[in-house]
Amino acid sequence: MADSPKKAIVIGASSGIGRAVAVELGLRGYQVGLTARRENLLREAAEEIPTKTIVRTIDISSPESAASRLEELIKQMGGVDVIVINSGVRNPNKDLALKPELDTIAVNVQGFVAMATVALNHFLEKKHGYLAGISSIAGLRGTSNAPAYNASKAFVSIYLNGLWQKCIGTGVTVTDIRPGFVDTDMIADIPSKFWVASPQKAAGQILDAMFRKKKVAYVTRRYILLSWLIRIIPDTLYYKVYKKMRVQ
Ligand SMILES: NC(=O)c1ccc[n+]([C@@H]2O[C@H](COP(=O)([O-])OP(=O)(O)OC[C@H]3O[C@@H](n4cnc5c(N)ncnc54)[C@H](OP(=O)(O)O)[C@@H]3O)[C@@H](O)[C@H]2O)c1
Repeated sequence: MADSPKKAIVIGASSGIGRAVAVELGLRGYQVGLTARRENLLREAAEEIPTKTIVRTIDISSPESAASRLEELIKQMGGVDVIVINSGVRNPNKDLALKPELDTIAVNVQGFVAMATVALNHFLEKKHGYLAGISSIAGLRGTSNAPAYNASKAFVSIYLNGLWQKCIGTGVTVTDIRPGFVDTDMIADIPSKFWVASPQKAAGQILDAMFRKKKVAYVTRRYILLSWLIRIIPDTLYYKVYKKMRVQ
């Protein structure tokens, strides 16, 4: 009997890192379900994928309907082996207005939880599956420029750690992906960037880490060093560095 096809879903596959992950999964032989809000861009990404694709719009800022739509997609694909939760927003908010903060939490926290619970419950039922969530090196420390963004990414990391614990001995793998700078629209406003990776390079490292069943992975790998530094330097020094980079 022929092996059943490998299947994956990427949440937030319309641009940047998620789009590159979807294409890379296709190149690695996976059928790919692509979701986000911008259907035209999802269809454009699907054109680049050599395997079978399914496009479904999902707006994760409406968590309950998003959860139902993800369940429907999983059913439509006959179950999946891999889910990458990549969707995220970063709203620079120097004036500390309320709306950008709440919008960030709606997508990066509530939307993330909606997608993660559906994904994990599907995998736990099958006793098999790979879940990766994209947090950020930004989750290691606060920032005055986009307070909710960094806090939301810390939430994602801690939430994934809880899911990882839940999956011990189940055959299900959970990986927390913490990118540094990746060349996408999301960071276009940041003037001083370093160690910037292409979305394609990031996508390769994300999938390698997930399939190696890593609990936490920094992308690119050299950010491990920076993550260690971020954790140990005092707040005053950290702030000086950020000010120099003109992100604050
Ligand atoms: N670029 C970096 O340097 C960097 C560093 C660390 C972490 N990250 C994280 O990596 C992830 C991808 O970001 P990116 O850099 O590739 O930026 P991007 O090109 O702006 O991609 C963001 C993705 O999230 C989706 N998204 C946003 N709001 C959504 C919503 N309400 N419902 C469903 N999907 C939504 C977007 O799709 P639609 O707009 O079509 O819905 C898009 O596919 C994010 O979680 C980001 O925080 C990025």
